[in-house]
Amino acid sequence: MGKWREIGNTTVAAMHIVLVRPTKILIIDRAEKNRAMYSDGRYAYSSEYDLTTGRSRTLNLKTNTFCSAGSFFGNGTLINSGGAENISGAQAGFQSVRLFNLCDDGSCDWLDFPSYLEIARWYNTMVTLPDGRVFNIGGSIKATGANDNLANNPTLSGSCTSTRRNP
Ligand SMILES: *[C@@H]1O[C@H](CO)[C@@H](O)[C@H](O)[C@H]1NC(C)=O
Ligand SMILES: *[C@@H]1O[C@H](CO)[C@@H](O)[C@H](O)[C@H]1NC(C)=O
Ligand SMILES: *[C@@H]1O[C@H](CO)[C@@H](O)[C@H](O)[C@H]1NC(C)=O
Repeated sequence: MGKWREIGNTTVAAMHIVLVRPTKILIIDRAEKNRAMYSDGRYAYSSEYDLTTGRSRTLNLKTNTFCSAGSFFGNGTLINSGGAENISGAQAGFQSVRLFNLCDDGSCDWLDFPSYLEIARWYNTMVTLPDGRVFNIGGSIKATGANDNLANNPTLSGSCTSTRRNP
């Protein structure tokens, strides 16, 4: 079975992890008490961790990413959307769309558009289409212990432009 040992510290708990560069992972938590903090005194809930240097870089979000979903556009930009209620100084994330353009030099950060979706999504699903657009499907219109026909959101949204890098 081998042994597990601690080899790094992402400073933000990893609710979601995605590989954004060959040696970098992007981490998202819900808005809650992580070690990393923003300059305005809020607890941070996203970071980028470098697997070779073991260093993490705090990333800036405005809206709560709990229960959100993500996928990549065909041009490589990461898109994350949906989320949950306003907590810990974060705005509500239900209608948020967040973009992260990949970079190697530590200059990239989230662009967070809090009310971009026309309808709230909590626990949605996102998938990249063959032409590089992204499909955003389902979820509920509010945080709910048990789903029902009032909260259920059986709709889908799509990005409007094709973003395939090599048509
Ligand atoms: C991880 O890093 C944070 C921020 O630098 C620090 O507060 C915390 O003590 C570290 N945790 C461990 C287990 O090293
Ligand atoms: C990729 O496409 C998306 C959706 O059209 C756009 O928002 C984003 O800025 C594009 N990324 C780059 C690096 O051009
Ligand atoms: C947070 O959400 C609650 C419940 O919907 C609302 O009453 C309150 O005004 C919101 N607070 C902020 C700062 O947006």
